[in-house]
Amino acid sequence: MSDHPSYNYKVVRQFSVMTVIWGVVGMLVGVLIAAQMAWPALNFDTPWFSFGRLRPLHTNAVIFAFGGCALFATSLYIVQRTSYTRLISDKLAACVFWGWQLVIVLAVITLPMGYTSTKEYAELEWPIDILIAVVWVLYAVLFFGTIVKRKTSHIYVANWFFGAFIIAVAMLHIVNSAAIPVTATKSYSAYAGTIDAMIQWWYGHNAVGFFLTAGFLGMMYYYVPKQAERPIYSYRLSIVHFWALIAVYIWAGPHHLHYTALPDWAQSVGMVMSLILLAPSWGGMINGVMTLSGAWHKLRTDPILRFLVVSLSFYGMSTFEGPMMSIKTVNSLSHFTDWTIGHVHSGALGWVAMISIGAMYHTIPVLWNQKQMYSMRLVNIHFWLSTIGVVLYIASMWINGLMQGLMWRAYNVDGTLTYSFVESVIASYPGYYARLLGGFMFFSGMLLMTYNMVMTIKAAPESDGAASNNMEPAQ
Ligand code: HEM
Ligand code: HEM
Repeated sequence: MSDHPSYNYKVVRQFSVMTVIWGVVGMLVGVLIAAQMAWPALNFDTPWFSFGRLRPLHTNAVIFAFGGCALFATSLYIVQRTSYTRLISDKLAACVFWGWQLVIVLAVITLPMGYTSTKEYAELEWPIDILIAVVWVLYAVLFFGTIVKRKTSHIYVANWFFGAFIIAVAMLHIVNSAAIPVTATKSYSAYAGTIDAMIQWWYGHNAVGFFLTAGFLGMMYYYVPKQAERPIYSYRLSIVHFWALIAVYIWAGPHHLHYTALPDWAQSVGMVMSLILLAPSWGGMINGVMTLSGAWHKLRTDPILRFLVVSLSFYGMSTFEGPMMSIKTVNSLSHFTDWTIGHVHSGALGWVAMISIGAMYHTIPVLWNQKQMYSMRLVNIHFWLSTIGVVLYIASMWINGLMQGLMWRAYNVDGTLTYSFVESVIASYPGYYARLLGGFMFFSGMLLMTYNMVMTIKAAPESDGAASNNMEPAQ
């Protein structure tokens, strides 16, 4: 299929297809490790198939492969359509696509082999880290270069969020990955002790703040108004939201290091900043949800809009829960338990995955010049599988988390522990089965999406119908 006359849709198509494929792969590994927690025999005593090696494969695949491709696809689509201009270079766009796929393939090979820097969400070894930095700089040149040659005077708010995400991730990745190589596959962090931990969680929390939040807010600011066919509720609020969010997020990292060797004042700063973060987070959520004013009836008939709005509800829930968990006394109960895992997936599945899925269902038909997806009925079934799946996942982890935390701190009158650790593990099994079921439902929805995407692409006319060359066509 030839490309669009005005825009580079080829790279957006490539990233969109890979979003769905990596989503299936990453979530399949998620279902597998969830099954390993329910039935540990599934580790098969094989090192490369063990939970310890597959878990970072899952996190890398869902965050950087699935989430990353969704962010590349939507940012490169939105920047062209809201700037009324083509990407500055097709070759550069191809380098970003193939470079990022190479990073992912190298991760899929090296993580099960046990090569790891041991830094969470930054496990890849130094040669791959260098490749990531190079691809990221090319992406920044592509994105900002296109912004510079835009044909409108203002820069649409979605691009502000994508821009912040690109700059912050470059800074976080380069600082956190600084290491001293020993061999081609082993390096040691450039930092030591507590400083290493602080740098790691400054990175880790802002990976959440900028990779898993700011970029997806960029998506929200484009797709929610587009799908609801309403202007954004408040442009002024979106600007306040933007500056408040990026100014506060960067200080909240120490809430991952409560009750550690990190100085107490730094832990308290992390906690206070996390509590303040509730305000800009909810400001953004409210701006998105209120955009539906006068269009609520569309939720009855439009499953894509439902994906987008429900994702905003999960965003609101996880950004309420996060500040609560950052309070030191609450964190002393939640930290080592499944509550954290529940919080992660209310953000990751409920917010990140659902908004990406909604955005893809909107974008795929446009890219292949179709009115809508091959089957809207399947989109609707996907919506219910995802929603029920997330609820099962997070509810089971909340119950497990609270139960584990309370069992671990229960004492007998003589000061001995009421429960052994193993007793708390045995009590967690029902929650692990329920989580597996919820995760499997979410994963099945992704399979439906793959089928629906393939059929939509197949239905596309051979000669490029995308020839409708209006710059910002109404959908
Ligand atoms: C079918 C869907 C999914 C299933 C069944 C699943 C399952 C799991 C399991 C079993 C773990 C390990 C929990 C533990 O160590 O106790 C995990 C960890 C994790 N998953 Fe998922 N997952 C899914 C989707 C996702 C998605 C879409 C994302 C991100 C966009 C994600 C991000 C994470 C993260 C960040 C962790 C590490 C959490 C931590 O260290 O606190 N997952 N997942
Ligand atoms: C206002 C917003 C948020 C705040 C203040 C916040 C706060 C927290 C806190 C206190 C923890 C537990 C740290 C610990 O005990 O070790 C945590 C863990 C986590 N949160 Fe959030 N959260 C927020 C939003 C989100 C969102 C929207 C996502 C996902 C998209 C997310 C993803 C994660 C992940 C992946 C972890 C686990 C990190 C790890 O230990 O591996 N958070 N968050």
